[in-house]
Amino acid sequence: MAAEAGDKAFYVTTPIYYVNDAPHLGHAYTTVAADMIARWHRQRGERVWFLTGTDEHGQKVMRSAEAAGVEPSEWSDRLVETEWKPVLEVVDASNDDFIRTTEQRHVERVQRFWQALYDAGHVYEGRYEGPYCVSCEEFKIESELEDGQDGEKLCPIHGRPVEILSETNYFFRMSAFADRLLALYEEHPEFVQPESMRNELISFVRQGLQDLSITRSTFDWGIPVPWDPDHVLYVWIDALLNYVTAAGYSTNPEAFAQIWPADLHLVGKDIARFHAVIWPAMLMAAGIDVPRTVFAHGWLLVGGQKMSKTKLTGIHPRDIVDHFGSDAFRYYFLRAIQFGSDGSFSWEHMTAVYTSELANGLGNLASRVAAMVGRYFDGTLPKPTDHGPAEDVIAEKLADAARRADAAIDRFALHEALAATNELVGAVNVYVTEQEPWKVAKSDADSDRARLATILYTAAEALRAIAVLHNAVMPKASGALWESLGAAEQLGALAEQRVQDAGTWGQLPPGATVTKTAALFPRLPEEPAGS
Ligand code: ME8
Ligand code: MG
Repeated sequence: MAAEAGDKAFYVTTPIYYVNDAPHLGHAYTTVAADMIARWHRQRGERVWFLTGTDEHGQKVMRSAEAAGVEPSEWSDRLVETEWKPVLEVVDASNDDFIRTTEQRHVERVQRFWQALYDAGHVYEGRYEGPYCVSCEEFKIESELEDGQDGEKLCPIHGRPVEILSETNYFFRMSAFADRLLALYEEHPEFVQPESMRNELISFVRQGLQDLSITRSTFDWGIPVPWDPDHVLYVWIDALLNYVTAAGYSTNPEAFAQIWPADLHLVGKDIARFHAVIWPAMLMAAGIDVPRTVFAHGWLLVGGQKMSKTKLTGIHPRDIVDHFGSDAFRYYFLRAIQFGSDGSFSWEHMTAVYTSELANGLGNLASRVAAMVGRYFDGTLPKPTDHGPAEDVIAEKLADAARRADAAIDRFALHEALAATNELVGAVNVYVTEQEPWKVAKSDADSDRARLATILYTAAEALRAIAVLHNAVMPKASGALWESLGAAEQLGALAEQRVQDAGTWGQLPPGATVTKTAALFPRLPEEPAGS
């Protein structure tokens, strides 16, 4: 079904990342997951809006700039242009917009939002005394801190000492929203996922919410508070608003209504509380709809700990992509880690998955089939006149894989969607091995020619569907496969193929021109680039 004008877009976001340093695998992981979901929804024929960007204000970024001896604005510009925008190309992200919190469109709309809450009585002046982690940019609760040496209190995420703040600040009456938040979690269990995170947040909010300090007055790298220029807005309540400022909040009501509410805020579990407690409370105060779902995925771990810029344990996505390619990067992280759980990365494991599932699995299947259609039928896809029980099995497995993959996407079980398609690849490889077309080809008898035609048609038609189902995760290889099957000429652009129709058998017409192209997943270079 084509998207009609007036349909609300499927709106998916990543966190906007701090520009204190270069991206690592963790950031690319979120971006790639959001990208797969965006591409999948586009291939359902929906209008999609996919937003990512950078979070540039606050002490964390300011201190990085200071350490480098440059102004924070200059630092941010440099990091955005040399790192955060380029990494999107490295991982092949298809975002529709990129927002920076230093942009005028954001600053103006943020000021308008908070002025409105101030005018409506949701904000009051008070004093904040307590611990703060600059690496999280978070006001911390004593009881959640870990003990360091000499009585020092450490942030449990960064393992760094917290700082004790004592400032006169403005506060948002967040405590007033505890009951409405609990009602939201109750009435909309899909609002925060996975279930374990929902439970954690319900018990957190049940303990009662404190009001939130929303301004800082000891430094000036932030958005000026419109009613009191001695303060800047606290970085998180500036950053969260990116999801509405980029969508036209307060200046473009028609555009805004076409996008908002967000269907999915994809975040790491480190920032679920900001997204599923503070953010909906802010929106409720402003009378704006809350997002439909906040999904918190797990962490990529290094030595059992969260990979982090702060701890300098980051691996740059480029190091992996240079070696394995962007498709394999995307596939590996989404396939090997159960989405929602923690996982770790190793060159050895990634090499093993690349070799077995991509090079020897899909890549080998695609090249064998194209080569045989070339050799035995001069590159013209033959007609399957002998379709029998073995072919029925493949057609059924295909329909089943397509159904499972589509349903898995709605549950954000990205690993299951990939597993379903990967099982199909395995089944087709087994089919080709068992049918032994190279032996059937030795005979010129009519019945053997019919069998050979049917085997190769069946494998090619399954590959047609595999290209459609894998396009959201591996757009480059799927595009090359699509070309090699002659499908573009017969069926149109791959991006136009509907995932919900992918499981219908018999779409690739006999007569298509099949060509053997370069290996989809070439043999890996000897030495891992980053080892
Ligand atoms: O928190 N494993 O930005 P940030 C998995 N600016 N994902 C990881 C990860 C890891 N080891 N490390 C980072 C901020 N991420 C704020 C967000 S949004 C309004 C403001 C991913 O640069 C994951 O998505 O610290 C995590 O939530 C995000 O990067 C944090 O990026
Ligand atoms: Mg962080």
